[in-house]
Amino acid sequence: MHPHQILVILAILAGLAYSLHGPIELNNAIEEPVTSQDQSESLRLKLRGVTKQLDYQCGPSYGSCPSGTCCSSADKSPVGPPTKEIPRPHIGRVPYGPQEIRSCTVPGTIALTFDDGPTRYTGDLLDLLDRYDAPATFFVTGINNGKGPIDDPSLPWAELIERMIISGHQVASHTWSHEDLSKVTPEQRADQMLKNEVALRNILGSFPTYMRPPYSSCLPGSGCREDLGDFGYHIVLYDFDTDDYKNDSPNLIQLSKDIFDRFLNAGNSKINSWLIIAHDAHEQTVHNLTEHMLKTSKRLGYRPVTVGDCLRDPRDNWYRADSTWVGQKNKKKTPKKGPKKSNVPQQVSVDGTCGANYTCLGSRFGLCCGSNNVCGNTTTHCGHGCKKEAGYCAIHVPPNGDAWDPVSPGGKAAKSEADSNVRVVGTAAATSLVLALIVAMWM
Ligand SMILES: *[C@@H]1O[C@H](CO)[C@@H](O)[C@H](O)[C@H]1NC(C)=O
Ligand SMILES: *[C@@H]1O[C@H](CO)[C@@H](O)[C@H](O)[C@H]1NC(C)=O
Ligand SMILES: *[C@@H]1O[C@H](CO)[C@@H](O)[C@H](O)[C@H]1NC(C)=O
Ligand SMILES: [Zn+2]
Repeated sequence: MHPHQILVILAILAGLAYSLHGPIELNNAIEEPVTSQDQSESLRLKLRGVTKQLDYQCGPSYGSCPSGTCCSSADKSPVGPPTKEIPRPHIGRVPYGPQEIRSCTVPGTIALTFDDGPTRYTGDLLDLLDRYDAPATFFVTGINNGKGPIDDPSLPWAELIERMIISGHQVASHTWSHEDLSKVTPEQRADQMLKNEVALRNILGSFPTYMRPPYSSCLPGSGCREDLGDFGYHIVLYDFDTDDYKNDSPNLIQLSKDIFDRFLNAGNSKINSWLIIAHDAHEQTVHNLTEHMLKTSKRLGYRPVTVGDCLRDPRDNWYRADSTWVGQKNKKKTPKKGPKKSNVPQQVSVDGTCGANYTCLGSRFGLCCGSNNVCGNTTTHCGHGCKKEAGYCAIHVPPNGDAWDPVSPGGKAAKSEADSNVRVVGTAAATSLVLALIVAMWM
């Protein structure tokens, strides 16, 4: 083999190894406050540069790619009139940016907050919160993790967000594509907030006044806190972090429960209140940790409420209406009916079973016909496998389910931060390419 070829191959291997182990965290759910710039920062910026080039390579003339994989999802935009010109007065008594909010003010309240959703787990979380009659707050991201835009009607996210409102939860913003607001330009920062406003407005007719910065990063001196104040946002952090994103396995989640118990046991529900961060992007958070948090808070005398309620902010102040928006008002939702033309007239289910001849619509067992031919109202019935011909289906799971919820080779649900893995590989390839080119030019 020619020595030049060996050098090129070595460079490619070095690039791959470096990138795969390099400090790349483009879209992780890590919400630690960012306080110092470490020495890997310059490497990270370099790698970001490479990723940007890669993104640029998949512009319109290069064909299409699944959202959030190779084309930057930050560059995508929700459809519809901009919200930019809507006035943003600082109504109410709760402070807006540049001030940050780190705790609740009403004693005896506990505000559970869930970031990064909606995800495939959010329906189950809403079922659980319904069961406990426990309002919570969702900091919703517009397009992260390759899940597609939240307002895309062919995806399940919009209906989940509507359900949050109907069930008495608070919907707040966690930006459009989960960028670090301390590190982007003022224009990108505006984009991150305004695009998510448009998407949420497309779903709800209004958009939130509450937000949480991704990675809880909104550093003084970056202009972030002032900008968010100008956009009319309350910047919401937390009293303590459950670290649920680090402990998403049956073996580890006890650590998050221990953190929760330690804080709550140290307090007193007559005087204390809690503002707590978790993520509905994680399986164990939804199927294990949250019920523990609800049971423990109830046992210790706390009342679960939304962030707005734990700050005694009237509900009208949680959102800004877009009075020019008529999109949703015109197309009133009607529950999906059974098959239009069926020679067998469907009867309402009398025993809770459903299928070709029996519909759940109008039955006392729930409106959705699940994959097991039983009527019910939970995600198990209304979500994946729900039979549209025999009832209402609240959640239409997209046919390309893998695009928004990749399953790892082991079969276990993958980490929720789906697109970061894709990006790491993409970045590795790009870094190799750049290194190989440098070597080639140098010879
Ligand atoms: C829930 O968490 C506990 C540890 O707190 C663990 O033992 C159990 O296996 C978990 N349950 C599920 C269904 O993952
Ligand atoms: C539905 O009713 C038709 C006509 O009575 C019958 O032939 C068919 O087997 C029924 N289907 C089911 C699933 O019970
Ligand atoms: C199912 O939901 C509908 C609509 O919210 C409600 O009217 C009905 O009582 C519910 N049924 C059950 C069994 O929960
Ligand atoms: Zn987040």
